[in-house]
Amino acid sequence: METQKENLNRNLHIAKDASSSLEGFSKLSREERYQRLFQMGLISEVELQFLQKEMPMDPGLADHFIENAIGYYKLPVGVAVHFKINGKEKVIPMAVEETSIIAAASKTAKWVKTHGEILTRTIGKEIIGQIQIAKALKPEMTVERILAHRERLIEKANQIAHGMVKRGGGVKDIIPRKLDRPDGATMIVFHVLMDPCDAMGANVINQVCEGLKPLIEELTEETVTMCILSNLVDTKLTEAKVVIRNIDPEVGKGIEEASLFSQVDPYRAATNNKGVMNGVDAVLLATGNDWRAVEAGMHAFCARDGRYGSLTKWQMQGNDLIGILRAPIVVGTVGGVTQLHPMAKLALKIMKVNSAEELAQVAAAVGLVQNLGALKALSSVGIVQGHMRLHAGNLALQAGATPQEMPIVQNILQKLLDSQKKISVQDAQDVLEKLRDKTIF
Ligand code: MEV
Repeated sequence: METQKENLNRNLHIAKDASSSLEGFSKLSREERYQRLFQMGLISEVELQFLQKEMPMDPGLADHFIENAIGYYKLPVGVAVHFKINGKEKVIPMAVEETSIIAAASKTAKWVKTHGEILTRTIGKEIIGQIQIAKALKPEMTVERILAHRERLIEKANQIAHGMVKRGGGVKDIIPRKLDRPDGATMIVFHVLMDPCDAMGANVINQVCEGLKPLIEELTEETVTMCILSNLVDTKLTEAKVVIRNIDPEVGKGIEEASLFSQVDPYRAATNNKGVMNGVDAVLLATGNDWRAVEAGMHAFCARDGRYGSLTKWQMQGNDLIGILRAPIVVGTVGGVTQLHPMAKLALKIMKVNSAEELAQVAAAVGLVQNLGALKALSSVGIVQGHMRLHAGNLALQAGATPQEMPIVQNILQKLLDSQKKISVQDAQDVLEKLRDKTIF
């Protein structure tokens, strides 16, 4: 049997540089993909063996994560390739069950890399914690007192968040907001703004808000009713921008028009944004991040003008197509399970991200590229052909094809798709039956 070393040598000639190493990645066997990541220096020998053993997960670890653990729910993890973000090649692990997502992301990223670029940045640093006084007795005086003791409150907050302060972050400001209640009374909400460095910061900001409660009550003689972070983090936005230069005007106009649809119609915006989240969530899942928090924040941000809108905007500028995604994507590369879950830890390593900000930028870039792929298909041939082509394998599996039968059934299903423009499990079952009866070949 071929040893690991021989296998490596056999593959070495292919991996000359990062870019050429990723050519034809989807055509490699699983083992060859591991070897390729190893050759690129993205995983160590120990991690290579870990992947080869299909990552047996420690059942005890699940008990640390959650209550009443009975096992693990396994999702496939794949890597999106051909991404070049801010001039740096990235191999991006994504955890997702939908057949076409990684294929579409990689294909579209290749198109972008050949004809343009992906640029990302972070706007703002602070996350938000909320301290609520549901019915203020003396709203004006309460706000005045908090503003007068702002420095003392920030100091107290930073004693609680001392770990963040040590890492260069911590609480930077406390801002009062007055809200009208339907019963005519006034609600006061203090926003505590904290730089969480490379953590998502949820636990610390909640501790800070609860820790400030006694002092706020003492200073204001009001009752604090609730302390919790906000997921609508409009104080820390991540932006991804895609440029495609000298695009075929028909293709560019089609994408611009498809984007306009999602800007004016909330029904289309929801589906457009689902496509964006196909990419964002898969990156967050692979890296052990709280995708529910990001989902809530991004959708709330889309509705900030009072009407649900699109997360993305594509426009022609001269001969170029420009796409922008700007949204709150608050993630961590430390804290939570990011460094405890072995796959999450490995995903972060493969992605070579140096900070939480960079991870959020990668997620934004994948979301925007995913959206571009969908709009390109939707404004031209539609998505059914591409989806179904990739889905043929799932249909063959559902019909009960064995590993030997799989490629034959898939092949026949793809031919059927070309001729009748649709395929179903029934088609897969019919093909399989005929194959077993030897009535086709
Ligand atoms: C399917 O998972 C996602 C799409 O519906 C997104 C879109 O319509 O833009 C293709």
